[in-house]
Amino acid sequence: MITKEAIKAFGSIETPFYYYDIELLNKTLQVYTSLIKKYGYSAHYALKANANPKILSIIQKAGLGADCVSGNEVAIAVKSGFPADKIVYAGVGKSDKEIKTALKAGIFSFNCESVPEIRIIDEIAASMGKIAHIALRINPDIDAHTHKYISTGRKEDKFGISPWMFNDVSELFTSCKNIRLVGLHFHVGSQIMDMGVIKLLCTRIEELQKWFIEHGYNIANLNLGGGLGVDYENPKEHPIANFEGYFDVVNKNLIVRPGQTVHFEPGRAIVAQCGHLISRVLYVKIGQRKKFAILDAGMNDLIRPALYQAHHNIENLVSDKRKMRYDVVGPVCESSDKFDSNVMLPQTKRGDLIAINTAGAYGQVMAMRYNQRDLAKAYYSDELCRK
Ligand code: LLP
Repeated sequence: MITKEAIKAFGSIETPFYYYDIELLNKTLQVYTSLIKKYGYSAHYALKANANPKILSIIQKAGLGADCVSGNEVAIAVKSGFPADKIVYAGVGKSDKEIKTALKAGIFSFNCESVPEIRIIDEIAASMGKIAHIALRINPDIDAHTHKYISTGRKEDKFGISPWMFNDVSELFTSCKNIRLVGLHFHVGSQIMDMGVIKLLCTRIEELQKWFIEHGYNIANLNLGGGLGVDYENPKEHPIANFEGYFDVVNKNLIVRPGQTVHFEPGRAIVAQCGHLISRVLYVKIGQRKKFAILDAGMNDLIRPALYQAHHNIENLVSDKRKMRYDVVGPVCESSDKFDSNVMLPQTKRGDLIAINTAGAYGQVMAMRYNQRDLAKAYYSDELCRK
């Protein structure tokens, strides 16, 4: 939520910038943690969604662990206070240096994505005199019905170990002495709104884990990954993701054996709605059939619309005039630098403050300096609007 007080404070800040509603983040975390407590689940926040230090510190204090995808993310998680035994590390291409960083930190598990990777982790662990705890990231061959770039669980996706590789993996556990299997890991995609996908995942997990149990493995942990979607259309109506529905589906459909723990890796659903990209209108350009609102924020600040044709709700924070249609674009020299077409906004003029909402996940963290533009700074509701 962007309050009137916040809009007043925005007046003296250079745009574009990210604005975080810390109250909403805390509320989201409260709802989330009370549900995982209720079901006895564990959660590792996916740092890739937003690794802003203040946001990380709040999430760490709420008791979540960390899900990392690079050695630097592992190092940042440790620095932010996440206990090493609550850090998991996934990714198809872990470098030797990154593996060493994670082994040194003593993380909970490597989520391993291929046979050669497991062999290298074993070699490196042996050279360091350590035992690497590994979970197998299994490719369950499920279509998450989401954008093709964020769908990760189909058999031809690059992620995970497919069932026809299980025998090879099993041989590794016999021959490699510095790895220990601690669980199975799954992640089928992001921005999943269809709970049928989660139900199907639970069914597939049961089919897949049976192979390991029948072959004498103890599967201590089941990690279902992240992926729960958020409402990009109507963020004000649904500021908190459907955690209740999600966990209800898991609780009813996942078979959990005695002694097994169940883990999750939420990213987007924790941070998306609390973040906004705030921008000013530089120019309104009137075309023959279109009106362009040209912002001072561009695709380098928020790349999701250009990269995934993602839709973000856009608001004019200061005009209450009659609504008109605009193409909302950025200043970067690329035709794809467009936030959305045919957006109904109150009549907009140079200097108006524009909010691009639901930008807390994969926003600031994916920003870049293309065109040598400055990186947008971040401001926080609890600092900007002190009570
Ligand atoms: N765990 C694993 C192994 C993942 O690959 C991901 C996200 C997550 C957890 C967290 O998923 P979430 O809860 O955030 O859906 N940049 C894209 C999203 C990429 C997601 C990559 N993996 C976007 O802006 O939509």
